[in-house]
Amino acid sequence: MTSQNQIAHSLTLPYSKRIAPNRLVKAATTEQLADPTTNHPNDELGIASEYFAKGGVGILLTGNVHVDRRYMEATRNVAAEEKDLRDPVVMAKWRKWAKACKGGEGGKTLSIVQISHGGRQVPRSVNWWSSLAPSSVSLELAGIPQSSLLSPFAPPRAATLEDIEDIISRFVIAAKISHEAGFDGIQVHSAHGYLLSTFLSPKVNKRVDAYGGNPENRSRLLCEIVQRIRKELPSSFVVSVKLNTADFQKGGFTEEESLLVSRRLAHLGVDFIEYSGGTYECAAMMGKDQKMVDTLLIKNNNGAAVRQSTRERESFFIDFVDKARVSLKEEPPMMILLTGGWRSGKAMNDALTRGAVDLIGLARPLLVEPNFANRLLTPVTYSGDSVQDVTALDYEITQPYHFLPESLRQTLSQQLQASWHIVQIHRFGQGETQPDMNLPFGPFLLDTVRHLVFDPKKYPKVVLAAQVAVWGMIGVVIASIAKHIL
Ligand SMILES: Cc1cc2nc3c(=O)[nH]c(=O)nc-3n(C[C@H](O)[C@H](O)[C@H](O)COP(=O)(O)O)c2cc1C
Repeated sequence: MTSQNQIAHSLTLPYSKRIAPNRLVKAATTEQLADPTTNHPNDELGIASEYFAKGGVGILLTGNVHVDRRYMEATRNVAAEEKDLRDPVVMAKWRKWAKACKGGEGGKTLSIVQISHGGRQVPRSVNWWSSLAPSSVSLELAGIPQSSLLSPFAPPRAATLEDIEDIISRFVIAAKISHEAGFDGIQVHSAHGYLLSTFLSPKVNKRVDAYGGNPENRSRLLCEIVQRIRKELPSSFVVSVKLNTADFQKGGFTEEESLLVSRRLAHLGVDFIEYSGGTYECAAMMGKDQKMVDTLLIKNNNGAAVRQSTRERESFFIDFVDKARVSLKEEPPMMILLTGGWRSGKAMNDALTRGAVDLIGLARPLLVEPNFANRLLTPVTYSGDSVQDVTALDYEITQPYHFLPESLRQTLSQQLQASWHIVQIHRFGQGETQPDMNLPFGPFLLDTVRHLVFDPKKYPKVVLAAQVAVWGMIGVVIASIAKHIL
């Protein structure tokens, strides 16, 4: 390597032999732009995706695309189901999206679809009655009584062996749709508490069959999915896995287990593994502790360089990858993508130079500055500095609910921060080129309610009218009973 800027070097992926033009990756960020009645890709999604790809990243990961519309993370996710593969109109929409994710005509960005199953993190707006998990262990969200009607997540039922067979085929079908559409590859989402991540977790996986118990059994479903995808798709198709370094919870998936699963995956033709961490119960992916989240996001400080306290704590999982490198040394090559907390060109370049990581994943910095990758790649053009001096925009989000109990505030804060960023993605989907750093609190609060509880657009007008009528009648009955009693 000749250049000082390691970020700008290309990378050949070991199994598919596809070439990432540089080391920066747009990490998956749920776009929630699809029409909730169809869950197909649409023009807004294409516009936002192309804008992100043109920002310079070498690899673009889409937001999570769901393999089963009954168990999505949000009503407006894209879903990829068997019927879509046979529908030329739907496939045309997919092809258009794939092209946009490469950066449009002639684009060189590697486009990867993140495929996922919501598991037990399925909000009631998607499925009021039931979610799915290895065992029927409900989410425990801080400040919200477990399994109560107050929870925005329905209690999960335990997956049967038929469910497991169905899940495997669904992941393979989603990979085939992605391939058919012209995407360069897929990423199997096995992190952040979604279905595959709960199978790995001894806290949620209490099964006594071949899919539960020791770590080999708990990782069986993930490995079977990867094996089937590798078997049924061409070897030039990129296959990646997003894995937790740990769940950061007592009794959850541990670092040692993550290293063991990584070693297994290295034998299955995985081009790159992306490390992250945490679940909805403990959002380590956004910063190992809540303080990090609060430091990053409280009040807008538009455009200033990232502050020193953040810089010192950047890259949440860097200590883990040092262990992973050692653990994977004797295994077939598998590139390491590390996501979470990168904010300065210096930290990124240093980590690449010392060989700690192969790829750098960025999420929030790109949602407020899609051109950040270009700034890192060609710092002289953009800021007159070397890569060592380039930092992400610093910003904070006002959270006007400090009066709430700490536990509930934590849960709310996670959701509201996600919504704030998702609203920015929606702006890009509408052709805006700049984020709104002073977004009023109302729209993103509304977006959170829609996301978690009720999305009116999900229902055809007749069903919606019927729902409003039923709820209206229930309201009238409650009001008259109350009047009677009082
Ligand atoms: C708005 C938003 C949406 C996200 N959606 C996804 C997703 O669909 N899939 C996923 O694996 N991670 C998702 N993440 C997590 C990011 O990929 C990433 O792991 C996390 O934001 C930490 O990286 P950062 O510090 O660069 O933001 C999301 C994060 C944000 C802020």
